[in-house]
Amino acid sequence: MKSILVLHGPNLNLLGEREPEVYGRMTLAEIDQRLSKLGEQMNLEVRSFQSNSEGALIDALHQARLWAQGVIFNPGGYTHTSVALRDAVAGIGLPVVEVHLSNVHAREEFRRISMIAPVCAGSIVGFGWHSYLLALHALSDILFG
Ligand code: DQA
Repeated sequence: MKSILVLHGPNLNLLGEREPEVYGRMTLAEIDQRLSKLGEQMNLEVRSFQSNSEGALIDALHQARLWAQGVIFNPGGYTHTSVALRDAVAGIGLPVVEVHLSNVHAREEFRRISMIAPVCAGSIVGFGWHSYLLALHALSDILFG
């Protein structure tokens, strides 16, 4: 069975209570549950991890080389700033799908820039928690053709 890392960046642990008008009311645990349920239907093992720390996210990407065949990544605010995370994504040699709950292109100017997007297989933004499920479909297409 193929395995997928779902990696959530800073502040996403607060989903459900954090700016619900922007990010919705679903908690991170609920999103992870839906992902692993959909993964079961697709014959994919889904393992989720969240960290507020850039270094821990980089470590998780490095570790994924050893057990995962693809990554779904919401880098949160680091999307717009982190050369180190971009280098990690570029360096691990796994397909990575970038995900955002909100439509980052329809918000503040600084959110339109993604350091991560150019080294990803693709990006899915603006569909709330559905963005993650769409990303799992996209990754499954990449892995199974
Ligand atoms: C986000 C968008 C980012 O700009 C923001 O900093 C987040 C969440 C999203 O999922 O919409 O933390 O990644």
